[in-house]
This record gives sequence, structure tokens and C-alpha cells, in this order.
Amino acid sequence: MTRPGRTGAGAAWRKLARSAGETEAVGAALAEAMPVPADGPAILYLSGELGTGKTTLARGFLRRRGLAGPARSPTFALLECYGLGDLVVVHVDLYRLREPQELESLGLRDLARPGHAWLIEWPERGAGYLPPPDVIVTLSVSSREGHAIAAVARSPLGGSWLAATVEFFREST
Ligand SMILES: Nc1ncnc2c1ncn2[C@@H]1O[C@H](COP(=O)(O)OP(=O)(O)OP(=O)(O)O)[C@@H](O)[C@H]1O
Ligand SMILES: [Mg+2]
Repeated sequence: MTRPGRTGAGAAWRKLARSAGETEAVGAALAEAMPVPADGPAILYLSGELGTGKTTLARGFLRRRGLAGPARSPTFALLECYGLGDLVVVHVDLYRLREPQELESLGLRDLARPGHAWLIEWPERGAGYLPPPDVIVTLSVSSREGHAIAAVARSPLGGSWLAATVEFFREST
């Protein structure tokens, strides 16, 4: 584990997750550390090929925020919303989006509010129609050792978020 190279936009963190549980733990640390922006949702892009652990990470996030039941997969609905305490978590999977314009009909615009966190799988499919992220997490199956998780901050809020995530992760593992 490394500390972010710097804080603020551009801060980066890499971690090798050796099990699904470790991927969930990274999601949990992101959930624990998330600042609540005053002017809109906190936005996390989850990038990576099929089966690299995007939903697993989102599940870890949701559980840490208090989800007791199973995380529904948004593969077919494209979007699932969870009211968890004072946070609404919007879990989106755009894999089946046929064209980015279809995003308009998902109703994301109404969820672009403070007190909301957006976790977006396959954000590339919504290119041009999604707001920019605070943090991008890219997952890959790097070796038999596990899945590589690389996080980069893309806004000042994202920089604080990532720094706090690394801190939390260091303390909890
Ligand atoms: N670090 C890890 N090491 C080993 N297996 C993992 C790790 N993280 C997740 N997995 C496993 O990888 C499989 C795929 O995970 P998941 O469904 O989260 O991927 P995904 O990126 O959401 O895929 P999709 O693109 O199809 O939505 C699951 O069986 C999960 O348990
Ligand atoms: Mg998935």
C-alpha cells in the first residue's frame, strides 16, 4: 500500500487486493472516508474489464454505509438507489447502455444533489453525458496474486476523499 503521491486532484493510490474480501475492504474505506460535498453528489467511477471486481467494491461501500441485505445488481435495471441513513447511494451499471443519450431517461439528473453518492460501473459507456468524477477507481486482474486497484483523484474533493481513504485503510488493516 502506498500513500497518495500528493493531496488534491491528481493524488493516486494503488493496492493489490488478494481476495474479494479485500476488494470489499477498499470499497468500505472509500465509504468511510467520503466527504459530503455541499453542492452536489460525490461521484466515483468504477472502471475495468468484465469481472474485475467493480460490483464487489460497490458492495463493500454499501455495506459500510449500513446496507444489511444483498446489494442488488444494477446490470438490468442500470440503476439502484439505497437510502442509508443520511446518504443516498446511487449504484449505476452502464454496461447495457446502448448509447450515451439513453442516460437521459435514467433520471440521474434528479439525483444530482448533495447527500448523494454515485458509484458508476462502466462510466465509459456514458461518455459525454455523465458529470466528471471526483475519484476514478480502475480495477484489473493483474496476476494470480489478485486484482489490482488503482485510484486517482480528479477534483479537490476527490483528493481529500482519497487521502482520507488511505488513512482509514491504514488504520483498519
Ligand atoms: N481481489 C479479488 N481477488 C479475487 N477475486 C475477486 C477479487 N475481487 C473480486 N473478485 C471476484 O471477481 C468476480 C467478479 O467480481 P464483480 O462481479 O465484482 O466484477 P465486475 O467488475 O462488477 O464485473 P462486471 O463488469 O461483469 O459487472 C467475483 O466472483 C468476485 O468475488
Ligand atoms: Mg459489475
